[in-house]
Amino acid sequence: MNKDLITIKDLTQREIEGLFVLTAKIKAHPSAYNCKLKGKTLGLIFQKSSNRTRVSFEVGMYQLGGYAIYLGPDDIKLGVREATKDIAQTLSRYLDGIVARTYSHQDIIDLAGNATIPIINGLSDLLHPCQAMADVFTVREKFKRLKGKKLAYIGDGNNVLNSLLYCAAKTGLSVSIATPAGYEPNSDILQEAKEMAKATGAHIELCSSKEEAVADADVLYTDVWTSMGQEAERDKRLKDFEGFQIDAALLSKAKPKALVMHCLPAHRGEEITDEVIDGPQSVVFDQAENRLHVQKAIMLELLK
Ligand code: CP
Ligand code: NVA
Repeated sequence: MNKDLITIKDLTQREIEGLFVLTAKIKAHPSAYNCKLKGKTLGLIFQKSSNRTRVSFEVGMYQLGGYAIYLGPDDIKLGVREATKDIAQTLSRYLDGIVARTYSHQDIIDLAGNATIPIINGLSDLLHPCQAMADVFTVREKFKRLKGKKLAYIGDGNNVLNSLLYCAAKTGLSVSIATPAGYEPNSDILQEAKEMAKATGAHIELCSSKEEAVADADVLYTDVWTSMGQEAERDKRLKDFEGFQIDAALLSKAKPKALVMHCLPAHRGEEITDEVIDGPQSVVFDQAENRLHVQKAIMLELLK
């Protein structure tokens, strides 16, 4: 693997599969890994709020025998109190790795380019690779395979979808997307994913309706309509996304036992109903749990 995990685009299919195999081992036998990162320290530079990413990385590091330091929005003030490249060089002298959650994706690239230690993207405005790794691992765990399975993504073509497209395309999971006009995923990433999918047989498509996307789907996936940093657009987005909610009626149009996924946090009553997210087909908390196991595998690979 490369020094950093900034985007799943940089991982080969073999590396992704290797991480999934390691994840399954760590999940099954966590105590076998409890000294693997003894003496190592991970920094968590977060410009935005977080529950899952922060807690799963901190706990994961602890479970591997290492230590984590949380550096929140008011601590080092990335690019404000001092230049990002100075922060990257300084922290490289203290830490063994950094997870960064930023507004601008360029900040993650700048950290990685100036740090001698691994930089893990913990979410940017463009990508959320650790989420996508846990998502595809969850689909693989539930169905025992990815090829021939179809995930329907309904909602905003955002950072979560962009990374999911890379991970699905590289592992053979098909993705059908339905978004309101103007909220499609990044067009370069969609094109790249379609190219990558040629090697794995995945089918990646942008559909003209949500019904088309969910037909024969094995998984329904959604994320918030207003991501962190877009709060000023919330009223407009609520109007623009009307009709794109995953509710019981839409779920009934997928395969009978289709799984429901959401990266969380959910805005209940907006992109998903309580009935669906709390219902028997929802695997959202298994998915959230898998963040921990997948990220332990990522840390082992990058920090060992
Ligand atoms: N899914 C996810 O990344 O959650 P947090 O924003 O709580 O970290
Ligand atoms: N798209 C959401 C994901 C949160 C985990 C956001 O960026 O806020």
